Amino acid sequence: MSYDFSDNWFSANVWLFERFLGDLRDRPCRLLEIGSSEGRSAIWLIDNIATHAASAVDTIDVTESERLRHNLATSPSRSKITFHLGSSDVVLRKLPLESYDFTYIDGSHAAPNVLEDAIHVFRLLRVGGIMAFDDYLWDDPNYHNYEGRPKAAIDAFLRIYSRRTEVLHRGAQVWLRKKSPAVPVDGNFMVSSTYRPIPLWKRASQRLRVARVTILGY
Ligand SMILES: C[S@@+](CC[C@H](N)C(=O)[O-])C[C@H]1O[C@@H](n2cnc3c(N)ncnc32)[C@H](O)[C@@H]1O
Repeated sequence: MSYDFSDNWFSANVWLFERFLGDLRDRPCRLLEIGSSEGRSAIWLIDNIATHAASAVDTIDVTESERLRHNLATSPSRSKITFHLGSSDVVLRKLPLESYDFTYIDGSHAAPNVLEDAIHVFRLLRVGGIMAFDDYLWDDPNYHNYEGRPKAAIDAFLRIYSRRTEVLHRGAQVWLRKKSPAVPVDGNFMVSSTYRPIPLWKRASQRLRVARVTILGY
C-alpha cells in the first residue's frame, strides 16, 4: 500500500525540521503535533526524526479523515504514532507535563486558539525542548478570521514568554527552545503547575533588601 495525500502544507518547511530536530534522530524522543490533517507531517516525523525504537509521536485533530486513517495504517511505524481525536484544548490537558522533546502547533489558525495551544504545549515541553508554529505569516483573505490570525497569538506568546524561551527562527514558521519552566514568583497570586516555592530564608533576605533600599536608599 502507498500513502494517499491530497494536500501538502509540509514539504516547504522540511529544512527547518531537519535543521532543528536532526539531533533527535536515533535517540529516544517524544514528539507532539496539533493538526494531523492527512498525516503527512506526523508520518515524516516518525520516518525521519523519531527513528529510535523507543521514540513516539502524538498527533491531535478534531477530525479523522479516511486519508488519515489509511496513511497511518500504511506507515510501517504505525505502532509509534498515537492519534488523539478531539479538540486540542481538551486533549492537551490530558497529556503529561514536561515530557515532550518537540511540539508542533498547526491546528486551529484562530489567534485565541493558537495562543491557548502555545500556552498548553509549553507546559508539556521539557526544558531544552523545541516548539514550532506553522503559518506565522499566513494571511489568506479567503478565510474570515475576526479574532485574528496566528501571528497575533505567536507575537503575544513570544512577548509574554520571552524570559523562558530562545527564538531559533522567525519566518513563515517560528521555532523556539524552552529555556526554563515557570519563572519563580513570590506569593500566591501567580502560581503555575511548575511553580516551586521560594525558600523562607530567600524570601526574608529579599524583604530585608527591599526594606534597606526603601529606608536607607541603597
Ligand atoms: C493545516 S492542517 C495540518 C497539516 C498537517 N500538520 C500537515 O502538515 O500535513 C490543520 C489541521 O488542524 C485541525 N484542527 C483545527 N482546529 C483544531 C483544534 N482545535 N484541535 C485539533 N485540531 C484542529 C484541522 O482539522 C486540520 O486537519
